[in-house]
Amino acid sequence: MYADRTRLASLWNDELALFEKLHPRSRALWERAVPHMPDGVPMLWMAKWPGPWPVYVESAAGAHFRDVDGIDHVDFCLGDTGAMCGHAPPASVAAISAQLAKGSTFMLPTSDAADAAELLEERFGLPSWQFTLSATDANRSLIRYAREVTGRPKILVIDHCYHGTVDEAYANLDDGQVVARRGNIGPPVALDWTTVVVPFNDVRALEKALLKLDVAAVLIEPAMTNIGIVLPDEGWHDQVRDLCTETSTLLIIDETHTLCAGPGGMTLRDDLEPDAVVVGKAIAGGIPAGAFGMTAEFAERVRSSLDLEDIDVGGVGGTLAGNPVSMAGIRATLGEVLTAEAYPGMIDRASEWTAGVQAALEEFRVPWQVTQLGARSEYSFLPRPPRTGAEAADADDFELQQYLHLHALNRGVLMTPFHNMALMCPVTTSRDVQRHTVAFREAVQSLFG
Ligand SMILES: Cc1ncc(COP(=O)(O)O)c(C=O)c1O
Repeated sequence: MYADRTRLASLWNDELALFEKLHPRSRALWERAVPHMPDGVPMLWMAKWPGPWPVYVESAAGAHFRDVDGIDHVDFCLGDTGAMCGHAPPASVAAISAQLAKGSTFMLPTSDAADAAELLEERFGLPSWQFTLSATDANRSLIRYAREVTGRPKILVIDHCYHGTVDEAYANLDDGQVVARRGNIGPPVALDWTTVVVPFNDVRALEKALLKLDVAAVLIEPAMTNIGIVLPDEGWHDQVRDLCTETSTLLIIDETHTLCAGPGGMTLRDDLEPDAVVVGKAIAGGIPAGAFGMTAEFAERVRSSLDLEDIDVGGVGGTLAGNPVSMAGIRATLGEVLTAEAYPGMIDRASEWTAGVQAALEEFRVPWQVTQLGARSEYSFLPRPPRTGAEAADADDFELQQYLHLHALNRGVLMTPFHNMALMCPVTTSRDVQRHTVAFREAVQSLFG
């Protein structure tokens, strides 16, 4: 916990004044929007950016965007992974634009669908793919399928996980009890009806839970990325796989964020063996697309449980899901942008970013840690890397985080608003990273110098 709150309040006020001076045009646009949208934003969480109003974007390319006040920013948020391919990657834009001009929604497939499925199979080793408009919807679809084919009622998730706006996954542990996570808006039923929760890296808790044989599927990120980064212990994934197999529980690995670890996420990198994989966000170059892949066996169980006559009303689908523009976007983005060749550079940039943060922490003897996962890195206000979501959550300090993010924003560096995460895209440069290194050192000095 950062103790000097008086200093923090004063630093915050200085940054606020600077932000207001730098962003008059954004302010005017926001004031126009306020009467028409709650907090003046198209989605309420956009109000969470630090500062009294959001920065409005004029245009973006690669790792940068320019705001309406003419200020250039290095973007380490990258749409919270939606733009991990970089903004407006030329190959994706060309494929998406070409398909848009040829029609964007038919409820019929185009040849890009097979290309997209083949590319995903090559990366994740799973043969059977379906497409949605978001990773959330991919998770929701798999949860339904898992319940359907196993006949079991519950889903097991990790304490402090995030898998999109999936009802079942909005659960936490409180003193060993499954409860709605803080801020869960209008849960439809008590969370312990639908969900079992265990801490990350806790094999015994997982075993105890699965042995009750009421869990249809375990839904996990291979490393936690939404409460800071929490890496798996050695052997955790082997144990998860074995316990799922022993208890006939399906294993769903959500690679939406961990696609930062490599071209096939941690599934490919670490030889994981899920029954299903979820991806989304960046896979179509920044336009809506999600996908889930299944083993042949799981896919066959799903298919044989569904009658053709009812296939459109089963609760899995969406009119625009699998549309040809998303398919063109996936084909081009996986085929030409987020390629295996792009990853080493992205990971090197993340290593440079991590080293920059580490150097400032050491210089000013700050008891925080920084953890890297492929092209993603994140610092947290903890002396050691966390092993569970609860440990990571306990170190949260919203005011401190808001200050650090506003300080960075005022120096042309955009961080993810929800935590202290930075992500690299294929065209992020060492110079871009240096901009963060300089700004972060200055912020740390202001707090601890
Ligand atoms: C691991 C994970 N899965 C799924 C999602 C949901 O993605 P979307 O909001 O694009 O549906 C997120 C979003 O942050 C995520 O982090």
